[in-house]
Amino acid sequence: MMTTDSQLITIDDQNLVFHLHNQQISYLFRVIPEIGQLEQLYFGPAIQTPIDYHHLIVRDLRPADNQLTGDYTSSLEHIQQEYPCFGTTDFRQGAYAIKYPDGDYISEFKYQKFEITPGYLNLGELPHARYHDETATTLTITLQDAYSLLQILLHYTISQENAIIIRSTTFRNPDTTTSYHLQRALSFSLDLPDANYDLLHLHGAWAKEMQIERRHLMTGRMAIDSDRGASSHQHNPFLALARPDSTETQGLVYGATLLYSGNFLGQAEVDNYDVTRISLGISPTQFDWLLQPQSEFQTPEAVLTCSQTGLTGMSQAFQNFFCEHVIDQRWVDQPKPILINNWEATYFDFDEAKLLKLAQQAKALDLDLFVLDDGWFGKRDSDNSSLGNWTVDHHKLPAGLSHLASEVNQLGLKFGLWFEPEMISLDTPLAAEHPEWIVGHPQKRRSQGRNQYVLDFSNPDVVSAIFEQMAAILHSAAISYVKWDMNRYISEAFSTYLPAERQGEFYHRYIMGVYHLYHLLITEFPELLIESCAGGGGRFDGGILYYASQGWTSDDTDAVERLKIQYGASMLYPLQSMGSHVSAVPNHQVGRRTPLSTRAAVALFGTFGYELDITKLTATELAEIKAQIQFAKSVQPLIQKGKFYRLASPFTSNRPAWEVYDSETKTGLIGYYQILNPANPSYHRLQLRGLVPTQKYQLTEINLSNNTILSTEEVFGDELQNIGIILNKDYTNKAAEYWQRPQPTDFASRLFQLKTTE
Ligand code: DGJ
Repeated sequence: MMTTDSQLITIDDQNLVFHLHNQQISYLFRVIPEIGQLEQLYFGPAIQTPIDYHHLIVRDLRPADNQLTGDYTSSLEHIQQEYPCFGTTDFRQGAYAIKYPDGDYISEFKYQKFEITPGYLNLGELPHARYHDETATTLTITLQDAYSLLQILLHYTISQENAIIIRSTTFRNPDTTTSYHLQRALSFSLDLPDANYDLLHLHGAWAKEMQIERRHLMTGRMAIDSDRGASSHQHNPFLALARPDSTETQGLVYGATLLYSGNFLGQAEVDNYDVTRISLGISPTQFDWLLQPQSEFQTPEAVLTCSQTGLTGMSQAFQNFFCEHVIDQRWVDQPKPILINNWEATYFDFDEAKLLKLAQQAKALDLDLFVLDDGWFGKRDSDNSSLGNWTVDHHKLPAGLSHLASEVNQLGLKFGLWFEPEMISLDTPLAAEHPEWIVGHPQKRRSQGRNQYVLDFSNPDVVSAIFEQMAAILHSAAISYVKWDMNRYISEAFSTYLPAERQGEFYHRYIMGVYHLYHLLITEFPELLIESCAGGGGRFDGGILYYASQGWTSDDTDAVERLKIQYGASMLYPLQSMGSHVSAVPNHQVGRRTPLSTRAAVALFGTFGYELDITKLTATELAEIKAQIQFAKSVQPLIQKGKFYRLASPFTSNRPAWEVYDSETKTGLIGYYQILNPANPSYHRLQLRGLVPTQKYQLTEINLSNNTILSTEEVFGDELQNIGIILNKDYTNKAAEYWQRPQPTDFASRLFQLKTTE
């Protein structure tokens, strides 16, 4: 057998069998010689390159349409494929659809060649895996259409580091005269040989994002999607297939996500022979890309993983990958500034004096960054005006933004500012001057959302004009942080910039415009840290993380709700990407009163900050917050670097818990929460994970109210993992102590720290 063998890709050159492998995973496919199509052979835990592969091929005789005459086994409907096309004897959902000049969709793409290149692909401004990884290798398979000059390039990247395969597709039109309509272009499709899986995904709505749902697959299709112009609160671009007996800690789980922030579709389709097809990519709804002569279309990258260690293995693979190859390296290891945001403290009602009072208090508490939220520009006293007029409101800030920023800087705090760049209010000079820049058909109904309209970011002039306005503000004052918000979805999509035959490109061009503005800002202001936000978690995805190193996870700041939201987000996103703030009680979204310590004990497991009027707190509360901030700073490197373990789910348990552990420093932090306080509760233990069994650890319970130690003991790792932290005390002969103990309450929390003793 002739082989081409890069370290991670083994190719049987004669039989055209391709094996991508590292120590954790294997991905195997081949070219079917008779028809030149690609057949998926295996994706799962690592195997050696098979001695022979023929036994992996199964073909029953089934009544079907077949590719070859006289051959009852060449129906693509019954073959596990790599990048299928609907209608070519396969009646399942295809990965792509091309409309030819005659109006037909009949394609015949056959294997032409392969190429191996070192490193990740550079996709320009389309978010992609990046940064040096000397083992990363990309296999590109070129498929050639029999009916045109069109080519499809399938890309697969694997590296030694993670159990990750990155897939994407390029559609290439080398023809000099003919155009084609690309109407479906998913990033990947994968056929798995059975259907014994649960589909796990994250769904939600405003203020309740990232809710976990897990259902057994059914015969037919289960889909998640967004056609809202953003990845959306409703569904995150992520899905997992988990064996029914898999758990947090064990069992086979596949995961897939997209490095993309626009409309998407993710599906699991089970056919009548229990073959499961999963696919993910740009939503085909109203998608119609004109593939002009000598042009290409590149899909977003899909990131696939396979774990044998349950959901934890999947999550940690994604989280590592995001930290190492997606999030801007300048921010990954740097401590994130602990911020105060004025939104829930003042809403639109502020002036310079009020803001400076907040900033002074923030400094006294040792915060790092003051973020001025919505309402500083135009005449914005409510949500019905001024978006698109990015000039300072001199009624609120008579001395201007630069004065405010420099006052804040002089206090010793950095200054951050809110923008909503993609939006426009009708009372602005921009709307009067350029009504054609508003998304929508000029003669048809245009719906408002939160009293505002969307700017046509598919038009490069619009992006440039907004960049000019933002750059002028960012140059005018010492601003080191931007919160980029986006508070409505796109309906009645239409761009006056695009010709009729290109309207189907609008949504993708829009999100590329968003990425371009990010690119312009980062290039002009390389030190800027950007937080993304879309009414909370309405655009929290791998694409946006490429540009904005942290995201506002949800507008819901209630600690109990946040347990679920952050737990759900941790299915794939690293803690350091999740903005999480301590806010006031009663909570502004749900009216719940939770202890200040619990609010902090939840927010600590993310990018920490505050969002309440700290000028109206008691001395005790201020002292408590100061202690929290001191503690947060001490654990920040751990939160950014450590591995995250979900110990008990807030979706199913009254006593959720989680842990962060860094195996290099052998330090950890454990959060344990009690939602409701039961009468006469049962005993409870909390088993930790990921520790070194023989290591002696100092286990310390922290009183977050004053940053003091409540208890400390020396325990071996294996005891903490197998017996667990004992959460009850021995009150034998200590009745008095028992009756005087602090009464347990609803919404209580406990925080434990782990360090090594040697
Ligand atoms: C929605 C965001 O999620 C909030 O944090 C705040 O910035 C408001 N928009 C401001 O309008």
